[in-house]
Amino acid sequence: MQRPPVVRLPAPSAHAQHWDLDPNTCFLNHGSFGACPRSVLALQSEWRSRIERQPVAFFQRQIESELDAVRAVLGPFVGAAPDDLALVRNATQGVNTVLQRVPLEPGDELIVSNQEYNASANAAAYAAERAGARLVRVEIPFPLGSSADVCAPVLAAVTARTKLVLIDHITSQTGLVFPIETLVRRLRERGVETLVDGAHGPGQVPLELERWGVAYYTGNAHKWLYTPKGAALLYVRRDLQPGLRPLSISHGANSTRRDRTRFRLEFDWPGTDDPTPWLCIPAAIAFLSGLERGGLAGLQARNHALALEARGLLLAALGIPQPAPDNMLASLVSLPLPALRSNEQALPPLFIDPLQEWLASQAIEVPVMRGPWRLLRIAVAAYNSLEQYRYLAEALTRWRQQQAPA
Ligand SMILES: Cc1ncc(COP(=O)(O)O)c(C=O)c1O
Repeated sequence: MQRPPVVRLPAPSAHAQHWDLDPNTCFLNHGSFGACPRSVLALQSEWRSRIERQPVAFFQRQIESELDAVRAVLGPFVGAAPDDLALVRNATQGVNTVLQRVPLEPGDELIVSNQEYNASANAAAYAAERAGARLVRVEIPFPLGSSADVCAPVLAAVTARTKLVLIDHITSQTGLVFPIETLVRRLRERGVETLVDGAHGPGQVPLELERWGVAYYTGNAHKWLYTPKGAALLYVRRDLQPGLRPLSISHGANSTRRDRTRFRLEFDWPGTDDPTPWLCIPAAIAFLSGLERGGLAGLQARNHALALEARGLLLAALGIPQPAPDNMLASLVSLPLPALRSNEQALPPLFIDPLQEWLASQAIEVPVMRGPWRLLRIAVAAYNSLEQYRYLAEALTRWRQQQAPA
């Protein structure tokens, strides 16, 4: 049940009626953990009840065909054959699966960028350390002028020892859409495969995984497909599937079945778990497709246009130029903030930026990212409205006035 708002906040979009978001928060952070609409959560509850009515029938006789049905919808949606997709819990698991299973030898090189998501960069460092491989960190600038600023440093770092490149599709901190199709092609021309961390990809931008020729792509459904949490995909190009085992070795490893590939048999049973987030994927796609004229593409176009409009308001409030070209943005926008005076290195791990705390005190939930840069990142989800970003821009103007020396 929706509680009436306590503070007077700008209204979200008309689509917000489908979510149970707190009316006392101006919620501009879909990027961190997504937010699932009520109808999809209700479906998840129905699935849970169905499973618990006869768990043995579900897990021993039914789950395989139900997951096949999910992949039959998801495959065409991401531009891949359904059989080339594994369902995993989250992008972190997808990234770890590939990094821990791709054979790395001492002296091999693994390329990551300074803009890689911290958890994925840690997974790469761990894989390299275990194998005695070398982690090569390339610097991608921000602000930047074009996608060439992404391709050039990555390609320049390739050597005869490069084994794999780990790169984000849409970066967590800077919110940029990287030129994955070009990068994958140009790296393959040099004999190098790519693992794309597409945590923010599915639903935010169109995907054509097979056509791009990408080796490995993992992406969350619980962010921009708005599913319940714990739903993600791992695409593995067919020629690489025989060499890729899941993180959990389970019954599939010695199955004598011949009706499914080893990849299918091994990835489809990681042990007993809750499959309901995956089972909600088709309904989530159908729900999103019904929100705007033009289906999901219409929703993506609406969110992108709103992101650009919101960015204009925030640039004016912060008094800064635009840090990235329009064509490198989708539904996330990050803007540089003045550096914190304190020493970043000395900050505790759970440190929350004072600006983020201050905005929270104004009932605005929006992240201030730390890392190589201090950035404010907005997300534009179906339930957001322009008025919400105007409210943020006004708050930022007040904050700047408070910061200004008297
Ligand atoms: C680029 C990137 N990779 C990985 C993740 C991790 O996603 P999850 O926590 O769902 O595994 C995130 C989360 O925001 C991300 O932005």
